[in-house]
Amino acid sequence: MQISNAPGPKAYGQDDHSFQTAGGIDGIRQLVTDFYQQMDVIPDASHIRSLHPKDQEESIDKLARFLTGWMGGPSLYNEKYGRISIPAAHQHIDIGNAERDAWLGCMKQALDMQKSYPQDFRDYLMTQLTFPANMCRNRE
Ligand code: HEM
Repeated sequence: MQISNAPGPKAYGQDDHSFQTAGGIDGIRQLVTDFYQQMDVIPDASHIRSLHPKDQEESIDKLARFLTGWMGGPSLYNEKYGRISIPAAHQHIDIGNAERDAWLGCMKQALDMQKSYPQDFRDYLMTQLTFPANMCRNRE
């Protein structure tokens, strides 16, 4: 069976389909800006907010660049900051289920704010992000 020639819509995980659906670099930067803004206002996220630097500019740049590559777009994180392993990048941070849930909660709110995103794309991203979020845990 030749999946690449199959008719019908592309799966989000195929090629750069997620990157394009997310609105490219500008769309992902908006998503991540909203994500960190939610971290500022959601009471359950105040603890994980306190783990991040006060100035969010570099956090936004890093996550936006990482997600660009993760969604099948250009490898912008590697170009600027070098290679990254998500579990290794978080091993110095105390992360358990509560911190994971707070992170995913901010992401869910931010995804809901992206009015151009189809609902099934939001659901897809939440499901996919659960994997790296679980891998960031280093206790429980
Ligand atoms: C599970 C809950 C998570 C928590 C509590 C968390 C927390 C943090 C914190 C506090 C930092 C800043 C570290 C520092 O400045 O020293 C950070 C950095 C980062 N996080 Fe997370 N994170 C989580 C999940 C994720 C996930 C799921 C991803 C990717 C899909 C991600 C991507 C990143 C990236 C790319 C950086 C920058 C790393 C670097 O360049 O040093 N994080 N995270």
